[in-house]
Amino acid sequence: MSWLASVSTRLTQQKAVASAPVRAVASVAATSVFTPSKTTFSRAFASAAMSRDPSSLSNYGAWRTRHTTATFDIDFEAKRMKGSVILELVSQTDKQSNEVILDSKFVDVSSVKVDASESKWEFKDEVHALGKPLHISVPGGAAKGDVINVKIDVETTEKCTALQWLTPAQTSNKKHPYMFSQCQAINARSIFPCQDTPDVKATFTFNLTSTLPVVASGVPVGNHDATPGKLKLYKFEQEVPIPAYLFAVASGDIVTAPIGPRSKVAAGPLEIEECKWEFERDMEKFMEIAEKLVFPYKWGEYNVLVLPPSFPYGGMENPVYTFCTPTVVSGDRQNVDVIAHELSHSWSGNLVSNASWEHFWLNEGWTMYLERRIIAALHGEPEFDFSCILGWKGLEDSVSQYGKDHEYTKLIINHKGVDPEDVYSQVAYEKGFHFLYYLDRVVGRENFDKFIPHYFNTWSGKSLDSFEFRDTFMDFFNGLGDEDLKKKVAEIDWNDRLYSPGLPPKPEFDTTLADQCFALADKWKNDSFEPSPKDIEEFTSSQKLVFLEKVQQDVPLSPERAQLLGKVYELLGSRNVELLSAYYLIALKSKDTTSYQGTAELLGKVGRMKYVRPLFRALNKVDRNLALETFAKNRDFYHPIAKGMVEKDLKI
Ligand code: BES
Ligand code: ZN
Repeated sequence: MSWLASVSTRLTQQKAVASAPVRAVASVAATSVFTPSKTTFSRAFASAAMSRDPSSLSNYGAWRTRHTTATFDIDFEAKRMKGSVILELVSQTDKQSNEVILDSKFVDVSSVKVDASESKWEFKDEVHALGKPLHISVPGGAAKGDVINVKIDVETTEKCTALQWLTPAQTSNKKHPYMFSQCQAINARSIFPCQDTPDVKATFTFNLTSTLPVVASGVPVGNHDATPGKLKLYKFEQEVPIPAYLFAVASGDIVTAPIGPRSKVAAGPLEIEECKWEFERDMEKFMEIAEKLVFPYKWGEYNVLVLPPSFPYGGMENPVYTFCTPTVVSGDRQNVDVIAHELSHSWSGNLVSNASWEHFWLNEGWTMYLERRIIAALHGEPEFDFSCILGWKGLEDSVSQYGKDHEYTKLIINHKGVDPEDVYSQVAYEKGFHFLYYLDRVVGRENFDKFIPHYFNTWSGKSLDSFEFRDTFMDFFNGLGDEDLKKKVAEIDWNDRLYSPGLPPKPEFDTTLADQCFALADKWKNDSFEPSPKDIEEFTSSQKLVFLEKVQQDVPLSPERAQLLGKVYELLGSRNVELLSAYYLIALKSKDTTSYQGTAELLGKVGRMKYVRPLFRALNKVDRNLALETFAKNRDFYHPIAKGMVEKDLKI
């Protein structure tokens, strides 16, 4: 199905938008069955007034954004987004409300109006990694509950960290330019000034003008038929309140195809068919399982945009349109767990959000938990444990990279003076997952399954921190009237779990699927072992990965043996980048010089940080010149976030 044809499927949603006053829908929480206990509620309020997010310079305790209207021209020539943003702000206190302070980073502001009158404004000094706070005066001040409209004329700059602009030559069919955003964690402020904190949620209107089709994190409204080359206004509404980091936009030569009754995939015309094939078998199944675990999906459609290869993450859970790396489309449906993951964020992260990046485990740990439950429901319990085994290795790697006593190996991570980008690792994902999995075992699966919808209902449309999570958990299980359960949950050492650095206790995993991988890795310890393609014939690609990771970790190989491994198991020609990069890490560790060039080539083809960062670090260890040269050559290919991280990794 073409981009043009797909528009008709949106009619129902458009009607809903037309008949509902956008702002009145602001509270998804109204649908909650349960409300938090009084203590948790007042604490949330008190801490919000104190701005409990150290990664935001905004005074969101004094004002809260209720609605954002983002009106932008997507200017491919200038590589800028130009336009305005209108923030509808509600005053929270009587005291401080004569000034609004917003987050901003590398944006050009030309005018600020408060309720249609020009206002005094200034950027204050830059704070490391957080940007410059934009101070706007509110003449006459505002009393609690008052609403003001702040309109800011703004354009992005060359230094914008959220956007990547690709020339036609950098796209697969080389016909048109392409652009996309990546706002998590704190890059939305480099597109427009805003309260860039996950603790504030607002509904959104997007008015985006482009010469090419546009995708955004809202429901399309009106006609989206595109005539390539012709400027057109694309409108979207997001009626579920979302934090600024879920603002998303992409524009380019994009077409769509259905992958389920409420889902489509969007991609370049050359890729669309293979993308459709990759996802259509599992998409609706994932959704139905997730809905059974939690509650019905609330965002209308769930779609996937497959981006060009420089997309820096595996996936990004932008509402309505998950953004994902083309490396997920490996032609064997073996990487679709990324979609199960991003879909799970529709509940964990997007409806229920971490209040600050200090509590990021609430987003990613919960999402890993839901992802693994989905995969287990679809493919059997052993897959749950198998995925845990893979994840545990990632956790071990992160802990050993930071050091086992490092702050960043804790569940709650102090973010004062910190760039959230530097903290990003498997810790939030896997340690977060293991905390929830531990709680699941403490209360038993049947009981935990009752807690899941309770938790998501309670916090739907809101943001919370780890302490509110603890209170919600304890209140629920203490309130069931089961003395045995009460005793069990009383024994949970929350402080230890939330604040201890390093690895958590390791549970026993079912190793059914991993044993064969470990056994094969063991054989490689013996230099006289003669491998054959048959060794891995029956392996899934995840099993191959577990095998490769085990070899990388435990089996020192000579350059010749590493080469042999790559050849016999046909890893060098693999289309699956997960396997290819795992292989190169082995080859580089063994100092197999014949692999250096191949590594450098791969580094020019993918921009997903999961591969790029370890490969650059490993290449840097064995051949710094080649690493630097490869980086210089591909600088413009990488997304600004990836570029920045690799520069840090290579100490450029
Ligand atoms: N939300 C994350 C990506 C992210 C996190 C972007 C923090 C920026 C800052 C997304 O859901 C994610 O976790 N992606 C993973 C995929 C996975 C675990 C299957 C990735 O990119 O590898
Ligand atoms: Zn995630």
